[in-house]
Amino acid sequence: MEHTEVVKPETLDELIKALHDIFESDCINVEEVQDVMESYESKPQEWMQYAKFDQYRYTRNLVDEGNGKFNLMILCWGEGHGSSIHDHTNSHCFMKLLQGQLKETLFDWPDTKSLGDMVQRSQRILQENKVAYINDSLGLHRVENVSHTECAVSLHLYSPPFQSCQTFDQRTGHRNSVKMTFWSKYGERTPFETISQENN
Ligand code: SIN
Repeated sequence: MEHTEVVKPETLDELIKALHDIFESDCINVEEVQDVMESYESKPQEWMQYAKFDQYRYTRNLVDEGNGKFNLMILCWGEGHGSSIHDHTNSHCFMKLLQGQLKETLFDWPDTKSLGDMVQRSQRILQENKVAYINDSLGLHRVENVSHTECAVSLHLYSPPFQSCQTFDQRTGHRNSVKMTFWSKYGERTPFETISQENN
């Protein structure tokens, strides 16, 4: 793979511009995306306008539609909030911690022929500014803010963008297809009628 010099984005806007440049190409270098996202140092004043919390569950807040190549969003996790075990609909998933810490648990895909406990492969705590990567060939994951006192904020890039994914029951491996929606778009709360968030 061709090696390209990583420019260090100083601001969130510069990061978004760098991501647009990278995703102009149809051939994506995962390490390059990870490096550029990691080299941006989180500054709350730059992403605060998108960080909208809900009392009961994590929120998904759209920041940029990446010219149709990716969705960039900010997820806000209150104390104890977490996602269901889910896949990534054949997309790349990059997740950068902007604030706080999140626990990521990886699972094997369940056996479709027999129901039973899903196999947990590994667990790690993601620290501020670090970037995690997953796609369907690497397995499934669940993300949780296990803190009882601190909230967490993460920046997610999905490419290509997707509107639904599969969630899995940890005890049986049974799967459901769920629609994914945005709590806000470009800093504006999504109108109430269209909200139906089911991945948590
Ligand atoms: C996650 O990776 O747990 C977040 C899933 C989502 O995009 O809602």
